[in-house]
Amino acid sequence: MKNILVTGATGFIGSHTSVELLENGYNVIGIDNLYNSDKDVLSSIEYITGKSVKFYEGDILDYSILKKIFLENNIDCVIHFAAFKAVGESVEKPLDYYYNNVSGTLNILNCMREFNCKKFIYSSSATVYDKDNPIPYLEHYKKSATSPYGYTKVMVEQILSDIYVSDKDFSCVMLRYFNPIGAHKSGLIGENPKGVPNNLMPYICDVAISKREFLNVFGNDYNTVDGTGVRDYVHVVDIARGHLEAMKYVLISKGNIGINLGTGKGTSVLELVECFERVSGKKINIRICGRRDGDIDEFYADTTKAREILGWESRFDIEDMCLDSWNYIKAHI
Ligand code: NAD
Ligand code: UFG
Repeated sequence: MKNILVTGATGFIGSHTSVELLENGYNVIGIDNLYNSDKDVLSSIEYITGKSVKFYEGDILDYSILKKIFLENNIDCVIHFAAFKAVGESVEKPLDYYYNNVSGTLNILNCMREFNCKKFIYSSSATVYDKDNPIPYLEHYKKSATSPYGYTKVMVEQILSDIYVSDKDFSCVMLRYFNPIGAHKSGLIGENPKGVPNNLMPYICDVAISKREFLNVFGNDYNTVDGTGVRDYVHVVDIARGHLEAMKYVLISKGNIGINLGTGKGTSVLELVECFERVSGKKINIRICGRRDGDIDEFYADTTKAREILGWESRFDIEDMCLDSWNYIKAHI
């Protein structure tokens, strides 16, 4: 059985990916410092799968704990989720973001080198695409960023491609997620950010459970179907399956490639709100306000590469995503 080190294992995407790995016969060794997640996620993962996770509570910035993990487990592949991810906060705290997201990744890559582990899957993002690219975004399009968070992703992608230049045995897939939402069917794991949500779906959920009065819709004068921003929402379980396929791929290949994980379809803010209201039966009060800095009209993925290289395609639609997000949040009020 292969041993997979999952950093950020109790986070939103890490927890769903851990379930997918365990259900497909892989051992999961997890690390998380619980900065943005709770330890009880572990028991939910174990309940869903009937299997156990070997968990280390610790920080990827601490080389000694990484070394301990590699010494105690014969790690075959690393799937690296642990990072800070709030775009606005990264503008206020750039040093924290570069330190955690870039130095943390360097620590892991150094430890992998020390233990001769050469299989790596990286959580990248659609944020690496220059906003002036045409849509849908293709993997070779120009890269850029509009926030320190975005630059951490662009920088790590550059580091990974330089490693491959220096070591042709290195095997890495950089998965560029579009907008992951939804939750596991069981309602036991999902997205429950600490503090005020930055992203649309967790905010809609907060309004649905009356935690917040209304949703601020950031602009209705975009050049889109109804004037509100259009994004490529993709179910987190589909994203988790994408990691499983990427991991199978890196285990038998060499190279460094970027691959989009999205549905290839755009949905506007108002369309997502309407769908959520329909499946949940809850009214979501909205207030149209000014555009949010850095937002653009519309983007979605070209998913050809994921299909051709990984044999991966999204399976869930917007209704599934809204229903699963709602079922999770209802159970966690
Ligand atoms: P999350 O915050 O739910 O999960 C990240 C986990 O990493 C958290 O549990 C957190 O406690 C942990 N962590 C952070 N810094 C750590 C450190 N120094 N040491 C140990 N653990 C640490 O976020 P997520 O949505 O699951 O995102 C996972 C990855 O995917 C991130 O790298 C993120 O940038 C990337 N990503 C997310 C999205 C999205 O919309 N959710 C989109 C594109 C890319
Ligand atoms: N929006 C609102 N109100 C809100 C939150 C969002 O109207 O309260 C709108 C935004 O203006 C945008 C859409 O909803 O049009 C989606 O916004 P999100 O914040 O949910 O997602 P973004 O596309 O802005 O960004 C997210 C992550 C980025 C990542 C990107 C692509 O925050 O880090 O997806 O993966 F790069």
